[in-house]
Amino acid sequence: MLAATPPMGWNSWNTFGPNIDEALIRETADAFVEHGLKDLGYEYVVIDDHWERMERDEGGRLVPDPQRFPGGMKALADYVHSKGLKFGIYSCAGAFTCGGRPSSYGHEEEDAATFAEWGVDFLKYDFCNKPMGVDGRALYERMGQALRMTGRPIVFSMCEWGMMKPWLWGATRAGAHMWRTTGDINDSWGSVSDIGFERQHDLHPYAGPGHWNDPDMLVVGMHGEGNVAAGGCTVEEYRTHFTLWCILAAPLMLGCDVRAMTETTSEIITNPEVTAVDQDPLGRQGYRLGREGGPESPFNFAETWIKHLQDGSVAVGLFNRHDRRGKTMTAAWEALGVHDRRECRVRDLWAREDLGTFTRMISAPVEPHCCRLLRITPLTASRG
Ligand code: GLA
Repeated sequence: MLAATPPMGWNSWNTFGPNIDEALIRETADAFVEHGLKDLGYEYVVIDDHWERMERDEGGRLVPDPQRFPGGMKALADYVHSKGLKFGIYSCAGAFTCGGRPSSYGHEEEDAATFAEWGVDFLKYDFCNKPMGVDGRALYERMGQALRMTGRPIVFSMCEWGMMKPWLWGATRAGAHMWRTTGDINDSWGSVSDIGFERQHDLHPYAGPGHWNDPDMLVVGMHGEGNVAAGGCTVEEYRTHFTLWCILAAPLMLGCDVRAMTETTSEIITNPEVTAVDQDPLGRQGYRLGREGGPESPFNFAETWIKHLQDGSVAVGLFNRHDRRGKTMTAAWEALGVHDRRECRVRDLWAREDLGTFTRMISAPVEPHCCRLLRITPLTASRG
């Protein structure tokens, strides 16, 4: 099955915007191998908007910008494949892409065929410049159909920002493997909190193997690393962002410059016990168990999230969204759906440390904008 677990990879948009070329894509593929990202499951190297020449060729086919992609897309895809990775590209359901370049409206079948010919494994399909009066959903159905007609397995990543509730029909009607649920993320705590904490919690029934909610690409590691829109999250906020995305079984599409990652960025995105929560084969999206907040500011909640895992463990995220105040947070077995008297082994996945065996509950202090990610494993006779 394609996208049996949430796709992992990298996309050019967050850091590079329109400033992309084939050297960047090659070097990114190299970096996936060098920095061990590939071994951890990061697989798709995706080129976002602005790769196209302004005009199609005489045959009506899309052409890559000859200055920035002189070798063409087939050769670039071959290079990415030679590294054992997969190659992704971008188009849009409207008349022009969001960046104003040629787009697939009315060209769905020929573009899908072109992508298949080039060896594309992943298509991000945006939603700008839709002609008036045209049913947007039908455009995604059309491209889904065109992709199936190529016979090539291509992950279909819908990007209509949650406007038409794609979680209700993206998989069944358009054959999509993932769909954006919200507008664009940016490198700030406000954006991460709004998208992650406020807009995903009721979408868990709609995700599963082969079809995922996509709260947008990661901003981990963008701050101070070549990002034009300077600003950004702190390291601990990046960790919180990454943790929540893993609980959400979100696609893990890196948005930083992976050629020039800092140690801390690498430490966040390459913790195998954390990515294992996202990639757990049961394929359940996590959800919010509850939250507490004070009246003094609207988003100062302490939130407990849970994700069920295949071996009977639960991953529990304890998130403190308060701006200044640390908080001791408690996960009670009863709320997790585990019997009160059941002994459980508890592991802190960021510390990579066993905390011991507990019954009834576990409490831990959580600093402002920080989180804990615990793996709570009920002990059974066979597990001793
Ligand atoms: C939209 C998408 C972004 C990115 C840009 C490219 O805004 O949501 O993720 O693809 O277009 O122009």
